[in-house]
Amino acid sequence: MNDKSTATESAKKVFRDEVLAGLARSPRQLPCKFFYDEPGAHLFRQICELPEYYVTRTEIKILRLHGAEIAAVLGPQIELIGLGTGAGTKTQILLQELDRPAVYVPIDISREQLEKSSERFRKMFPNLQILPVAADYLEPFELPLPRHLSSRSVVYFPGSTIGNFEPEAATEFLSRLVELVGEGGGLLIGIDLQKDRHVIEAAYNDNAGVTAKFNKNLLARINRELGADFDLGRWQHYAIYNPAEGRIEIYLMSETDQCVRIGDQTFQFRGGEKILTEYSYKHTIGGFTMLARQAGFEFQQVWTDDQRWFGVFYFIVAN
Ligand code: TRP
Repeated sequence: MNDKSTATESAKKVFRDEVLAGLARSPRQLPCKFFYDEPGAHLFRQICELPEYYVTRTEIKILRLHGAEIAAVLGPQIELIGLGTGAGTKTQILLQELDRPAVYVPIDISREQLEKSSERFRKMFPNLQILPVAADYLEPFELPLPRHLSSRSVVYFPGSTIGNFEPEAATEFLSRLVELVGEGGGLLIGIDLQKDRHVIEAAYNDNAGVTAKFNKNLLARINRELGADFDLGRWQHYAIYNPAEGRIEIYLMSETDQCVRIGDQTFQFRGGEKILTEYSYKHTIGGFTMLARQAGFEFQQVWTDDQRWFGVFYFIVAN
């Protein structure tokens, strides 16, 4: 077997193990990182364009409006480490504003997106050293050694993806980023803020049904890759805001009693039974600042939109 097919095989084993383990848990759950296979990444790009999904649009607006100021605060000749930057729309805006950025290390689970965006960025920024890493950044990873000298390392973590972590796991993950960037390093992070629950619920229950399709693609992917027989017509997308926890909860709900086969295993689902596919926490400015401080990040500044729906935060690791 060549390297590529070995890698594919081991990725599939990780997928199978995590799916089977998640479905055996009570309540049942599936890890949200598996949303982003090729069809999933395509559907997610469509979600970002939906009128109800304010998240992406608002974050981009903040970057356009305050990009120059953000770039000034981050400083010249930095190494930018992008986590889950996908197609790279936001990173492109940031890189265009930055003062002679030295190195860009995009880390993404979707190899296709990574290759495409790296190629595009190489043409746009010929003086920038680009070192893509195809990895699941939730697992430990090695940073490639850059040739170019940089003044500091700054992690860029857009899209409010940290909202998919429960608070304790978020702090733990941020502590790893403190280690990664080291003293003097920074973190620029996009956070979806708490707001009227109707605005939030609409964003995860769009009229065109793209979000439902995206959620159900996880079952379709399990069918495709693990030879399962989920009947997509008997599952419903269900997303509801939990104000006590400050999070939207996203589920796949079984419409009937049913039996699903995954490889040589069978799972029984009752009608109305839910599989949790994602939490998306919405933070307050004060709440998120505190969470980051517990991890070792010192708050510097936050940029928001007029409605205060979204925040782009900058933290540093104090010397
Ligand atoms: N991380 C994104 C978010 O929390 C992903 C997302 C958007 C999502 N819509 C979704 C995940 C619907 C599952 C279902 O906003």
